[in-house]
Amino acid sequence: MLDVRAVVTGIGSCLPPDVVSNDDLSLVLDTTHDWIFSRTGIARRHVVRPGTSTGDLGTAAGAAALESAGRRGCDLVLLATTTPDQRCPATAPQIAARLGLAGVPAFDLAAVCSGFVYGLTVAASMIGAGTYDSVLLIGAETYSTIVDPADRGTAVLFGDGAAAVVLERGLPGTPGEVLHVELGSDGDHAGLISVPGGGSRAPHLDDDASRHFRMDGREVYVRAVAAMTRSARSVAEAVGWRPEEIDAFVGHQANARILRAVARRLGVAEERVVSQLAEVGNTAGASIPLALAWAASQGRLAKGDRVLLTAFGGGLTWGSAAMVWPGVHPVRAEGPSPG
Ligand code: COA
Repeated sequence: MLDVRAVVTGIGSCLPPDVVSNDDLSLVLDTTHDWIFSRTGIARRHVVRPGTSTGDLGTAAGAAALESAGRRGCDLVLLATTTPDQRCPATAPQIAARLGLAGVPAFDLAAVCSGFVYGLTVAASMIGAGTYDSVLLIGAETYSTIVDPADRGTAVLFGDGAAAVVLERGLPGTPGEVLHVELGSDGDHAGLISVPGGGSRAPHLDDDASRHFRMDGREVYVRAVAAMTRSARSVAEAVGWRPEEIDAFVGHQANARILRAVARRLGVAEERVVSQLAEVGNTAGASIPLALAWAASQGRLAKGDRVLLTAFGGGLTWGSAAMVWPGVHPVRAEGPSPG
């Protein structure tokens, strides 16, 4: 049987045009730029205007990724998100239809901040199994619609955005190849990151406490460092990469201190750590593809580079992937058009 691999052939991104700086937040919250920046590395974040949805951002990023890959369509559309346009139906089929791909299978995948790495695993597995030849994998989020604007512990951390990659079948050794993936979860600690209401356990969204995202930041911090280190190390070892052979370490963009701590534990030099946090904050399921698109556009990723991805998020979930960077040109969509 032919040895088929999933290969990244295109990448695109879309950030909403409105930017909120730390100083802007300090006008409405008991916080300062210095507190936010020194604790997280975040200086500003992009946010949608009322009426612009995750699907709007995801459609624009998906179109950009298809353009980057030089394709008009694909066999499957996957959307990693925890802020879908509505609870039912999934957002991915509407994105597919808006991209002119009505008819192809499309579904949402909810793994919070690990969503992109989970999606990469699904896409690579389906291509490897021969089920589909090409997949459009989108990470898109609008956390500004679920954070409590009055909670300084979370409102300063998150931003909105979307990015997407196209994966196609290819032969082993092709630049862009996804070499190895590993995932994990621990639902015993689901309460550390949650939106309490709106599900079957507590369907009503009639008060702020049930509607808004909440997180135990300190506990999440400790668990994120431990799980990302363990998972990323395991993937690097599985593909036989020594720390000094890793050209780019792209961790979920939650906190610059988390990224530095994980890289230090892995033995990866600080200059190999990709951090877009200052510009976009934590964009959850969109953060890794956004960081990849940004790093590529800055010339920080070259064809053949060894890239180690790792993520951690609500669920709890985590996952890591090793891939070789392809010679693709990222396409940045100007801004979403409402659906
Ligand atoms: N501005 C000013 N002070 C703030 C603040 C803000 N925006 N947010 C919290 N504080 C205060 C707290 O109230 C607390 O005050 P107290 O000591 O009087 O109680 C103090 O700062 C320290 O809070 P703490 O939560 O311990 O800070 P921290 O150093 O742990 O940093 C986070 C907080 C959220 C930045 C950090 O825990 C973090 O990044 N956690 C992981 C988040 C994450 O990764 N999430 C996504 C995973 S998917």
